[in-house]
Amino acid sequence: MTYARIVGTGSYLPEKVLSNAEIAERIDTSDEWIVARTGIRARHIAAEQEKTSDLALAASQRAIAAAGIDKADIDLIIVATSTPDMIFPSAACILQDKLGVPGCPAFDVQAVCAGFIYALSTANAYIRSGMARTALVVGAEIFSRILDWNDRSTCVLFGDGAGAVILQASEQPGILGVTLQADGRYQSILNVPAQVASGEIVGTPFLHMDGGAVFKFAVKALADCASKTLAAQGMSHADLDWLVPHQANVRIIESTAKHLHLSMDKVVLTLPQQGNTSAASIPLALDAAVRDGRIQPGHTVMLEGIGGGFAWGAVLLTM
Ligand code: UT7
Repeated sequence: MTYARIVGTGSYLPEKVLSNAEIAERIDTSDEWIVARTGIRARHIAAEQEKTSDLALAASQRAIAAAGIDKADIDLIIVATSTPDMIFPSAACILQDKLGVPGCPAFDVQAVCAGFIYALSTANAYIRSGMARTALVVGAEIFSRILDWNDRSTCVLFGDGAGAVILQASEQPGILGVTLQADGRYQSILNVPAQVASGEIVGTPFLHMDGGAVFKFAVKALADCASKTLAAQGMSHADLDWLVPHQANVRIIESTAKHLHLSMDKVVLTLPQQGNTSAASIPLALDAAVRDGRIQPGHTVMLEGIGGGFAWGAVLLTM
């Protein structure tokens, strides 16, 4: 049986770090409030000339090097992003050009903070069906550009970054199970309600969130999804070595960990220094824990995330 296995990870964070204290100099908030309510202490902000595809490129190059593959072997590129360089072409096509690997299929997946889970699941299906053998799957975002920096209820939460994996066909176990879900009835509690029409921006091009409603929905949806994904494989929480969750709020992450009977030292947490990087947060966290040796070959790992749509899901895998 052919599995899709992660054979290399990489990530990139922009150089500029913005602390809570710096935000508190400009708007009515405080480091204490942000840390207590979210767990976030700082976030990285892309430089003016940096584009999402630049962040994706740096993360991809590191994943390719870690996998030890020839970039010419990549036969599928998927980028999860809600903040592409432009309306079209896709960030994936621009990334493909920057990487210098023309020819293979390349496309974006838009599932906001669940984007990496959706993209990884899609690449898994391509590999399992024989349509691809070596996929580059990236989550890359510059959320700092869709924030209203005067809205304290949202601007303190997000940051920029990119993470990438090389997913390859293998006889050894890799991705074991996937759950994807969406419910468009919740579209209005988390969105960027704008479009471009006749040369104008119509609507509000800033992130809007009903934080409390999102929080409530996320806690329940993630707990259900994690249980469902384990049960489908005949596994239980006792089989898990690591949880690599989407990094939105430490209280949501603690709640999911509690549901899975996992202590927080089995949970990869990058939120304090990175904030919520939307589709990039899961591959950024995965790469951090692979590089510092916490996640080892053979470990059983659950990735899970939720975001606007609502869209959510989980991937259960053996590293
Ligand atoms: O990745 C996509 C998924 N997104 C999420 O998962 C986010 C989910 N939601 C959350 O993480 C939390 O709901 C927030 C962190 C956004 C908000 O935390 P909360 O505990 O739900 O606070 P709240 O929205 O109920 O606000 C409590 C108070 C309000 O003041 P009043 O009305 O009680 O006087 C807010 O105006 O905190 C106030 N507040 C702030 N105060 C200082 C809101 N933002 C801030 C701020 N600094 N930055």
